[in-house]
Amino acid sequence: MATAVLGLQWGDEGKGKITHLLAASAAMVVRFNGGPNAGHTVIDRGVKFGTHLLPAGAFYAGVRSVIAGGVVIDLGILREEYDAVAKHLTAHGMSAPRLVLAENAHLILPYHRTLEDLEGSGAKFGTTRRGISPAYRDKAAHVGVRIGDLLRPQQLEERIAWRLELLCREWPNSDELRRVDARTIAREQIALGEPWIDGIADASLVVGEALREGADVLFEGAQGTLLDVDFGTYPYVTSSTTLFAGIASSVGVDSGRIERRLGVTKAYQTRVGEGPFPTELGDETGERLRERGGEFGTTTGRPRRCGWLDLVALRYAVRLNGITELALTKLDVLDGLDELKICRAYRLGGRNAREFPLSGDGLAEAAPIYDSMPGWSRLGRPASWNDLPACARDYVGVIEEEAGAPVTLLSFGPAPEDTLRRAL
Ligand code: GDP
Ligand code: IMO
Ligand code: MG
Repeated sequence: MATAVLGLQWGDEGKGKITHLLAASAAMVVRFNGGPNAGHTVIDRGVKFGTHLLPAGAFYAGVRSVIAGGVVIDLGILREEYDAVAKHLTAHGMSAPRLVLAENAHLILPYHRTLEDLEGSGAKFGTTRRGISPAYRDKAAHVGVRIGDLLRPQQLEERIAWRLELLCREWPNSDELRRVDARTIAREQIALGEPWIDGIADASLVVGEALREGADVLFEGAQGTLLDVDFGTYPYVTSSTTLFAGIASSVGVDSGRIERRLGVTKAYQTRVGEGPFPTELGDETGERLRERGGEFGTTTGRPRRCGWLDLVALRYAVRLNGITELALTKLDVLDGLDELKICRAYRLGGRNAREFPLSGDGLAEAAPIYDSMPGWSRLGRPASWNDLPACARDYVGVIEEEAGAPVTLLSFGPAPEDTLRRAL
């Protein structure tokens, strides 16, 4: 059965851990959105990796890994992580991962990062400064460069030269832009892409066939619903579709064949970068969550903002994605708190609101209304649902009730073995 793994918050929910766990029994793993702004932590055979582009299937022999057309690819970053994972696999007697790169995926080129710095969006929005928004913008503006262009070096160089010419007209005072040269960039890109040159293909055919055969295809989402370019807290969002709906257009497949839509949420809330966050805690409890949860960005190392679980936002994310099941991560981080707070509604414009405001500006005015619940002292390593402390079971119950979806995976530590599966 095909499964989509989707982030339901502002990213960093633990999608990497969950996808890696499920990939063990998958035939194919497809990364379908965003770019190297993602940072997915995977612990494989005791070794920790922070992957930015490489799908979690890469850690298993016989699992095909696909990077879909809707992803923006920085070949330098992909090469670095591919080499590190290939080395790790070789040390365990396995061969290097098999990778399919969609020929219509766009490249992030060095000038995209320069552009992001020139515009100052890193500081204003707290972006990851990986050139994500300039690359997506170039795609929409017909001036992007795609992976498939690596197969036609002359065309690759011409497209880069044309884009650079436009950029130099736009930014006449940028020495950095004037210094770069199309031929050098084109050659560098071809050299970086060399290990996968035979893997450049129409991914919609490859994935579509696997879906029609009924194979276990896993779709690895990046970022989270609240960072979606259309339905997130605009303008504090990323530049791609982070929702289930994005799979259809990014991969080019019939997403109606994906029955299982697994939403990942932490047991509390975090956000990295700027933007509204109603349940944010600026106090000792927030600090405690950050320390206990190791809440520092996988991609940028920035401290993540922490707060209580926001069920208004969770219901919104479940609705937008049509989530069928939940994976609840980092329950262990709440250990030892006497009181837990959980937000079921907001106070907004003098009224109680149960719906998430579509605009980031509306959300900035929302004040959380909390319910209080007793905490537990220590989860330990529960072997079954009944081994969980009663207060933890109650906490999970409230999440299921509000979200209207069952929690089928419970995570209480970073390693794959710190997970409990519950039958539906
Ligand atoms: P992703 O971007 O959604 O893949 O999430 P990240 O990897 O950026 O952030 C999640 C962090 O939490 C990583 O450091 C994981 O190793 C860690 N993690 C995942 N699940 C758990 C859990 O259940 N408990 C604890 N304590 N850490 C977890
Ligand atoms: P994963 O897949 C958390 C955030 C950035 C910034 C905003 C826009 O690890 O969950 P961008 O560089 O995309 O233009 O930045 O989006 N952001 C993420 N936050 N996890 C991520 O990915 C993120 N990807 C982007 O911090 O606020
Ligand atoms: Mg992350």
